[in-house]
Amino acid sequence: MPSKKAIITGSGGLIGSECVHLLHDEGWDVIGVDNDMRRQFFGEQGSTLPVVQQLRSTLPRYQHLDLDIRNRQAMRDLLQAERPGFIIHAAAQPSHDKAAAIPYDDFDVNAAGTMNLLVAARDFCPESPFCFTSTNKVYGDRPNTLPMVEHEKRYHYANGLDGIDETMSIDNCLHSIFGASKVAADVMCQEFGHYFHMPVGIFRGGCLTGPQHAAVELHGYLTYIIVCAVAGRPYTIMGYKGKQVRDQIHSRDVARLFLEFYHQPRCGEVYNLGGGRQNSISILETIDVLAEMGFSLKYEYNPTNRVGDHICYISDLSKIRSHFPGWKLEYDLPAIIDETVRRQAGLLSLKPRTAMI
Ligand SMILES: NC(=O)c1ccc[n+]([C@@H]2O[C@H](COP(=O)([O-])OP(=O)(O)OC[C@H]3O[C@@H](n4cnc5c(N)ncnc54)[C@H](O)[C@@H]3O)[C@@H](O)[C@H]2O)c1
Repeated sequence: MPSKKAIITGSGGLIGSECVHLLHDEGWDVIGVDNDMRRQFFGEQGSTLPVVQQLRSTLPRYQHLDLDIRNRQAMRDLLQAERPGFIIHAAAQPSHDKAAAIPYDDFDVNAAGTMNLLVAARDFCPESPFCFTSTNKVYGDRPNTLPMVEHEKRYHYANGLDGIDETMSIDNCLHSIFGASKVAADVMCQEFGHYFHMPVGIFRGGCLTGPQHAAVELHGYLTYIIVCAVAGRPYTIMGYKGKQVRDQIHSRDVARLFLEFYHQPRCGEVYNLGGGRQNSISILETIDVLAEMGFSLKYEYNPTNRVGDHICYISDLSKIRSHFPGWKLEYDLPAIIDETVRRQAGLLSLKPRTAMI
């Protein structure tokens, strides 16, 4: 009987905490590793300590370890002692923009931290499925070279392209420091799959979202816009006329996919993971939806886009759908926005005027 004990890094974060809940619901013993480094990256507003406290107080089979994934020996000791049956690695420095100011920390967490976990997994539990949360930023700014059409409120791909699949090159483009440190981790995860035949899955996330995200200006795009609209805080649109498009996927759908991978793992397989075309939305469209719900966003426009920012990124989910036919998106865009608006409004005792759904 394989061990029903999982280790989840970044367990206080958006994806980590959702995975903790799902696995716990499914009867797993879960060990979470998170040192609240998000607070160090983004300040008090980015702290994931409240989420960790909630996990600790509500989930009896959750054990929290305040460990740093950069600590190689600590990771080896942990995996040797616990030999988990499943590893989800979601701890990261997650911001594209922040990385340029802290390149050593970014690389040490994203690349070296991932290496620490991979080698420890190889040495102590090589048969255990390992999910790595990579990013669409591994494609750098190459998606911006695709032909686009400009509509009134959004960009879209020309020529009927539905989304970006895993065959896009990750080479010879501008990645940002964050994108490059994630490429290092992404390729190393693939290598441990191919070279050591370990069941490592690499999931290149688009815009991952959920109401529990400790969203800040530099990370947590959709939740941060909603926080600003609901709380009446000013927001700055950075470039592309506000028509930049992202495909949104709820963290619960991400966690459910990781569990599918646990049941049907493959060695070193790469997947593009997002909400796909049906869950894609631009900033201007998001502002309209929020206004209909009674929350007008106060915003200003800065014509300079973020370095290497995608104009339009939509994931092609065909490969995921073919490898995991039992998985489908449970959260559509209205459900995602509605849930996050309600949570933010609830925190301020406000009522949305309408539901999006
Ligand atoms: N949220 C998105 O839109 C998105 C998109 C694409 C990819 N991803 C990737 O998904 C993963 C999870 O993202 P998220 O949104 O949940 O991020 P998050 O910032 O909400 O969670 C990451 C957690 O990792 C912890 N952490 C950071 N450094 C650590 C360290 N050295 N040791 C232990 N814990 C540490 C943080 O404290 C935080 O709680 C990341 O790898 C990110 O790059 C996220």
